[in-house]
Amino acid sequence: MAKYFINAGHKVSKINKEIYGHFSEHLGRCIYEGLYVGENSEIPNVNGMRRDVVEALREIRVPVLRWPGGCFADEYHWKDGIGPKEKRKRMINTHWGGVVEDNSFGTHEYMELCSQLGCETYVNGNLGSGTVQEMSEWVEYMTFEGVSPMADLRAQNGHPDPWKVDFFGVGNENWGCGGNMTPEFYANEYRRYQTYVRQYGASEDNSLAAGIDNPSLIRKIACGPNIDDTEWTEGVLKTLFRHCEPMWHGHADGLSLHYYTHPEGWKTKGSATQFDVKTWYKTLAKTLFMEDLVKMHGAIMDQYDPEKKLGLIVDEWGTWFSVEPGTNPGFLYQQNTMRDALVACLNLNIFNKHSDRVKMACIAQMVNVLQSVILTDGARMLKTPTWHVFDLYKDHQEASLVESFLETKQIGEEEEYMVPNLSESASIDAEGKLHITIGNLSVTEDYPVETVFSGFEGKKVSARILHDRMDALNTFDEPDMVASKPFEGVRLVPGGMEFTVPACSVLAITVE
Ligand code: AHR
Repeated sequence: MAKYFINAGHKVSKINKEIYGHFSEHLGRCIYEGLYVGENSEIPNVNGMRRDVVEALREIRVPVLRWPGGCFADEYHWKDGIGPKEKRKRMINTHWGGVVEDNSFGTHEYMELCSQLGCETYVNGNLGSGTVQEMSEWVEYMTFEGVSPMADLRAQNGHPDPWKVDFFGVGNENWGCGGNMTPEFYANEYRRYQTYVRQYGASEDNSLAAGIDNPSLIRKIACGPNIDDTEWTEGVLKTLFRHCEPMWHGHADGLSLHYYTHPEGWKTKGSATQFDVKTWYKTLAKTLFMEDLVKMHGAIMDQYDPEKKLGLIVDEWGTWFSVEPGTNPGFLYQQNTMRDALVACLNLNIFNKHSDRVKMACIAQMVNVLQSVILTDGARMLKTPTWHVFDLYKDHQEASLVESFLETKQIGEEEEYMVPNLSESASIDAEGKLHITIGNLSVTEDYPVETVFSGFEGKKVSARILHDRMDALNTFDEPDMVASKPFEGVRLVPGGMEFTVPACSVLAITVE
């Protein structure tokens, strides 16, 4: 029996709700069809946003939504997406699938979507091909209250009141699709562009950088590394913190990190649905590399920012498989199985465990692209196994991570791709409820667990489980094949609890 210690009296760090964030790009059927169908669609909608999808997303309490890209962000010119829709520019989305982008979803529509979702806004600006003035005017358009050319234009377009921009990304993947820059060149550009991302209404002494946990200001996110590119992290931070007062946090509140799980490598990728047991473990082993990355880049950040005011923002993560046969290769549409559920479970446990530094994470992407929580087909919609993991994990949002340790053993089929049999994280919320999430990575073995609490007495327990075969998935004909269910197998005992985690499952336990 595996021993599991939970020291509920030791709060380690706050789990920012933004760790459960999402990413939506003008890519394939994410925005168009997936989220936005337009007011005249026969698909039920509110101001053009799909009613069914918004409802499903509200259920998992989406805290923040990043938009408009991705690579699209550094080619996006925001003025193309405002004003009367019939006058908006039509163009080809050259980056993603060569389809017509009619700009019918722009700033106003994004703000409307976030308001329907009840989530924070994370707008990604264009540093790669846009000007400083363009970025500056976008921020003025969205946030300035009073008389100004951009505030007037916003009012003319039907929205006199400013919106709140919670987070602003200054470029995306500027080491690649965002301009192929060197770290030093990017960081100098970042310093210049971010200067004009104004904090309207803020007093002078807090108008530079807020620190990631200051919600009263726009928090600015600098482009961070791809995977394990520590040279980028080092080069960017060195330049950002040069000639800089410590209180300015290097002019940034966050540094992004992008890491996708490709079981067969970047080129081959592999099928989302047809895989063997070896590939299952390989996928999970590659996902666990996320923890090495967080530690690796976190150690460099510690040198510049020991107080951890600069958040590590994992604003693109998830599985990236070959597209579903017969679909546009530029649309990145893939199905989602229990393997994706375990990938989500591992990543979210890692982010929880490192919530002292990881302040936000956005799964890529929200609907119909890569590891989505929702898939749509015309008027039909399904919740993927990944949606169910976000549902099981939602009570960690804004709770405090508590110290915990679970005895594990290595399992797998290939020496190179061994993984721990179990993964966990535990938090305590403001009402004193303990939330535990555990994944069983084994395809075949159940594991009994004996839990010992310290600083906590459990009186009442409830649990839900997502449990199925490794390649189980939901289809549009059978959308509820994989779904979480109540789990009655947790027994409170003096000083703790006992339960057995079934093979290939994600279990969420709440103890009061
Ligand atoms: O999410 C798909 C793409 O992956 C994004 O546009 C880009 O930022 C990353 O390379």
